[in-house]
Amino acid sequence: MTTKNNCRNCGEVLEHVFVDLGMQPLANSYVDPTKKDQAETRLPLRPFVCQGCRLVQLPEYETPEGIFGDYAYFSSQSSAWVKHCGDFADLAVNRFKLQGNNRVLELASNDGALLSAFQTRGIQVLGIEPAHNIARYAQQQGIPTIDKFFGIDLAQELVNQGYQADLVCANNVLAHVPDIEDFVRGIELILAHDGVVSIEVPSLYNLIKENQFDTIYHEHFSYFSFETAIDVLERRGLKVFDVETLPTHGGSLRIFARREIDRHPFNSVYQNNISRVSQEEQFCHNFYNLLGYCIFPQKDKFTTIQKLAKLRQDGAVIAGYGAPAKLSTFLNYCGIGPETISFVVDSTPAKQNKLVPGVHIPILPESELQVLKPDVIFISAWNWKKEIEAKIKKECDWNPEVICRIQGSSV
Ligand code: TMP
Repeated sequence: MTTKNNCRNCGEVLEHVFVDLGMQPLANSYVDPTKKDQAETRLPLRPFVCQGCRLVQLPEYETPEGIFGDYAYFSSQSSAWVKHCGDFADLAVNRFKLQGNNRVLELASNDGALLSAFQTRGIQVLGIEPAHNIARYAQQQGIPTIDKFFGIDLAQELVNQGYQADLVCANNVLAHVPDIEDFVRGIELILAHDGVVSIEVPSLYNLIKENQFDTIYHEHFSYFSFETAIDVLERRGLKVFDVETLPTHGGSLRIFARREIDRHPFNSVYQNNISRVSQEEQFCHNFYNLLGYCIFPQKDKFTTIQKLAKLRQDGAVIAGYGAPAKLSTFLNYCGIGPETISFVVDSTPAKQNKLVPGVHIPILPESELQVLKPDVIFISAWNWKKEIEAKIKKECDWNPEVICRIQGSSV
């Protein structure tokens, strides 16, 4: 049993602060303008790094139930993400020889973007999605979805009903799980004999290298290097046999694992990746051993504030493009509000006509760009830089100046 001050992976006492981003609101709790004068909950955004297994982690200040009860993020909103899902379904079907009688289970299946790709390829699918509004939407789209949190209890319930999965997909969910032990043991339990689990996590190496401190927010309880992810899985009976590096979310790892006890294991087809990723991660280790990461966000804060403030002072109207959770961390940390960025546009209907948490910048539909014609567009959803730049080029004929803090590549 671990406490708030112990590592959620290995139980070591947590003493080393990775970075202190101050007191921040919940990044996906978009504010209704009629409630803008009400106090918002602010919690410390101060992840620790474990001296033992090097897992970077935030204490569970907010329960997953509080965060995911009603969630504003719909995967299918992004055509690039839908393509990413289709590509992965092709890869998995070919590599693991999935057929109509095989079962794919996705944990945190959101609106079914990935599962529908498997479904159209004739594979049986099941989603687990705790956000009720999103699970309901997926069900309406014909994706069988259970609206519960995944862990040993739900895995056991399904196994008792005769369900086991040939492929478990856990994309961009492990970071959101406070009880890693329960979640990973649940995967081990529900995997069929010789089944495979594919896990996508944003890479800690990229976070440090590109100073992506804004990807830290309360919903992300853990931040993984490949080395730590192996440790997390192997402690719980899952053997890692491959890794790919992906451009998604500013640089992610796709880790393949199987049950330790399986007799006919899949082997690596990306042996070079395993060595390359492990070598790159020596870079992260230098940070832990020397000064930590703390200084980096501060440097970026000052340059960005200076740049935006100067443009604003010269009379430019600045708009943000995209209202992802990372924008909330970024603006709240830098102390930038509507005095500098007049508005943000976002394609997600659930975010439109709301305010960015904490700093209260209005979020408008993308079409408002044509109406308000800002002089400067700050690409706040930097992980979608390519797609957004292409849209700006196509639709913004008044030639606004485009700024992007991180040169992140897109899917
Ligand atoms: P994400 O970084 O968590 O995927 O969130 C990206 C946000 O950016 C999401 O709210 C949707 C928004 N967005 C747009 O508004 N227009 C776009 O063209 C793209 C790619 C994203």
